[in-house]
Amino acid sequence: MRGLNMNMTMNRCLFPCSSRPPTPRRRSVVQSNIGFYPAADCRFRRPAAVVINLLVLILFLGWPGLAGAKSAITVQNLRCEYAVNPLGIDVVQPRLSWGLQSGQRGQRQTACQILVAASEMKLKSNQGDLWDTGRVQSDQSVQVVYGGPALASRQRCYWKVRVWDQDGHESDYSANAWWEMGLLQPSDWRAQWIGYNQATNKLGIRPGAFLRKSITIAKPVQQARLYASALGVYEFHINGGKVGRDYFTPGWTDYAKRVQYQTYDITALLRRGANGLGLILGDGWYAGYVGLGGPNRYGSLPLAIAQIQVRYADGTEEVFGTDTSWKAAAGPLIQSDMLMGETYDARLEMNGWDTAGFRDAAWQAVTAQAAPAPLVAASDAPVRKIQEITPQSVTESKPGAYVFDLAQNMVGWARLKVSGPAGARVTLRFAEMLNPDGTIYTTNLRGAKCTDEYILRGSGREVYEPRFTFHGFRYVEVSGYPGRPGKDAITGIVVSSDTPTCGTFECSDPLVNQLQHNIVWGQRGNFLSIPTDCPQRDERLGWMGDAQIFARTATYNMDVSRFFTKWLVDVDDAQRSDGAFTDVSPFVAAGAGTAAWGDAGVICPWVIYQVYGDTRVLEQHYAAGAKWIAYLQAHSNELLRPAEGYGDWLSIQADTPKDVLATAYFACSTRLMARIAAVLHKTDDAQKYEALFQQIKAAFQRAYVGNDGKIKGDTQTDYILALDFDLLPIDQRVIAARHLAEDIYRKNRHLSTGFVGVGHLMPTLTQAGYLPVAYQLLVNDTFPSWFYSIHQGATTIWERWDGWTKEKGFQDPGMNSFNHYSLGSVGEWLYDTVAGIGLDPQQPGFKHIIIRPRPGNDLSSARGEYDSIHGRISSAWTIRGGMFELNVTIPVNTTASVFMPVNDPALVREGGRPAAQSAGVQYLRIQDGCAVFAIGSGTYRFTVLR
Ligand code: BGC
Repeated sequence: MRGLNMNMTMNRCLFPCSSRPPTPRRRSVVQSNIGFYPAADCRFRRPAAVVINLLVLILFLGWPGLAGAKSAITVQNLRCEYAVNPLGIDVVQPRLSWGLQSGQRGQRQTACQILVAASEMKLKSNQGDLWDTGRVQSDQSVQVVYGGPALASRQRCYWKVRVWDQDGHESDYSANAWWEMGLLQPSDWRAQWIGYNQATNKLGIRPGAFLRKSITIAKPVQQARLYASALGVYEFHINGGKVGRDYFTPGWTDYAKRVQYQTYDITALLRRGANGLGLILGDGWYAGYVGLGGPNRYGSLPLAIAQIQVRYADGTEEVFGTDTSWKAAAGPLIQSDMLMGETYDARLEMNGWDTAGFRDAAWQAVTAQAAPAPLVAASDAPVRKIQEITPQSVTESKPGAYVFDLAQNMVGWARLKVSGPAGARVTLRFAEMLNPDGTIYTTNLRGAKCTDEYILRGSGREVYEPRFTFHGFRYVEVSGYPGRPGKDAITGIVVSSDTPTCGTFECSDPLVNQLQHNIVWGQRGNFLSIPTDCPQRDERLGWMGDAQIFARTATYNMDVSRFFTKWLVDVDDAQRSDGAFTDVSPFVAAGAGTAAWGDAGVICPWVIYQVYGDTRVLEQHYAAGAKWIAYLQAHSNELLRPAEGYGDWLSIQADTPKDVLATAYFACSTRLMARIAAVLHKTDDAQKYEALFQQIKAAFQRAYVGNDGKIKGDTQTDYILALDFDLLPIDQRVIAARHLAEDIYRKNRHLSTGFVGVGHLMPTLTQAGYLPVAYQLLVNDTFPSWFYSIHQGATTIWERWDGWTKEKGFQDPGMNSFNHYSLGSVGEWLYDTVAGIGLDPQQPGFKHIIIRPRPGNDLSSARGEYDSIHGRISSAWTIRGGMFELNVTIPVNTTASVFMPVNDPALVREGGRPAAQSAGVQYLRIQDGCAVFAIGSGTYRFTVLR
């Protein structure tokens, strides 16, 4: 085992409490014709590096041509507020990002010009009538704040960018992109909230409400928009079909504080003459069951609001808003609840209810009500269908009950195909596991009935999918099916917040790959409007501890920028007036002020900043973070936090004292606030928080660290947190790391960490010089370990290390989810340490990348690919016949430090020639036994004989 090496690079950026605080980056500011534009983050300005880089480039690429020559860089993938051509945003100064492509090594942007125009025509003729930055010396290609005049409601802005490359050559303009503002003022809404009061059933659940109206479009339409929202969940229909591909709109927020609205382009859906409009309205989170709290958490009458805004070809406009002229009826959706399930009686369908010709004379009046909270434009990634899964097998578990195995624990619902007599009732029940007798195991669902029922209309082949419920399941039990169902009777429909896959990881060990698969599926299923703990039982809450520990892993797997942007507002909305962040956000139940849970309010913004270079998220949540620290300080005894909270939740016979854990997290958040303040140039605050951190650190040592270096409780999590949060003096760190390793050895080389410790475990061992121990934990087969659940057939991450064991069967059904992502927080380490794609905390957004794969165990290869905000990064290594080969790709406009595991740079080759002589490669130094090389963008093949 390697000894401790305190000089290792601390390239783990999220809790780098043991590394130097980031020096507030003095942004050079370049005056442009539009005001102040934050310029380069420029490592290129470091004189020595610049000169050497230039010399290398001149040698290998030739003397730059004359300025004005065309660059080979192409500008693409234009995004506004993280989205491609977003419709209906209410960020008044949106941020613009673009990607750059080039076949050349070491390419970068040295200047750029953004044009924003009020019309496509203007943009085509290169007129930025809203904003023309002119040529701005800047290497910033992400998060550029729009600096033109204030934008109006519904205004569409067209934009494009060109850049100048490292040689001063100018690129072509990008293709045109656009964004469109939503309704910015309350007075823009010319619609009423309407609903339909219906009696609840004995579970307290209402039928879905159907609302409708016909409108007349008298003139040719140039463009039409729908703005819609609900207190509840809604589907909007036009002329017989659902608008958009989103589910569970408007998403979950604290409805008493804000309600999101969605914007849709419905130009193509309207026709000249009569048009039918329809709304289906369900209880959703607003009035249905939500975790631990029963129904009607926010209100008992679901309401909807919608406004269609038509611009005619003749330039006139017309608005159609929901009002009391709409009519309502109950329909086939006789019960609809997220946790309980849905009952649909197809005999009650009202054909054509959402078309113009429908006769609604028998329909009832709607009720109108005042809005309880402001409407805000949806900023999140909508929930969408992601995938379909066909069953692997069907078995008859008991007479008339057929169990379909989808071979993947998933979240969504089942599509049923059936034919039979009218009135036949098919019941679908959902489960993650089977009982030993082959029947479905549902006791872990607790109060959630998770049952969908379909009552046949009796007319040939019928296809049913629920619309306002979701389940977490691998198995679907079908009963009441007329006849014997074939495998095609059921299809699994996977739904998730549409957070596109941005990372992949694989290596030579199939079990590690299965672990990665399980992590991804845990994320997919639990990132549904908010980050939930679990998708199946009567809980499904935004547990903050789970979210903070998993956030960094989440960013590697999927683009969660919009998802977290929205949820962090929920977090602030939930914060109590005394500064305590709540345990779950949106707040519906549980407590507040809890260590490692409440700290999500500081940690998650920091993660988003680090990963996406998003300083605005830091600005937005700074005040809430400051209140949190004040709360913690006020509720401490001489800076020691009380022994309260969940501690290291679900650890294995290793109870980390709650005061130790809470004080450690107090220190962590305080240190992060110091760093956030520094980034935001709040120098006084940065000093204040750093001083407070040092005091907490001293108090921690005095109270909890013994003369022998043991920390009160002597658990793995004790040492992990103390090390990762920089709570020990240097000499004590070595001792703490040894105690940590010894405990792992005492436990027969096993971990004992719960939700909190596990996220810090592998990075801490790695940084402390115990990489082989980390690898040992990764590949352990026996309980408790990641592989243990895989050997029991897990296809997602389990809530508990021992959710099911051969010896004892199921754990306590009171709390036994098989789809909980927290223990999957090891994913960060797979990307960062095994594949070797790390970020540099000093240059967030992967502007500078640390490529440092650290092979271990018997792995002979690993590969990570990650679409950062700057573009695709890939790191793939193999060990073959003593040769270590590393293939690296770095996006244009970024740089990387590549660590090769040998302490003689002369032994490293790139592209077959000595690395130090290779074009675009520069030898930097020896560090921790590695030869470190600097590279710019491009693809490189490094080799070394080991
Ligand atoms: C949830 C967890 C959560 C915890 C708090 C559980 O019921 O499922 O994920 O963090 O409570 O300790």
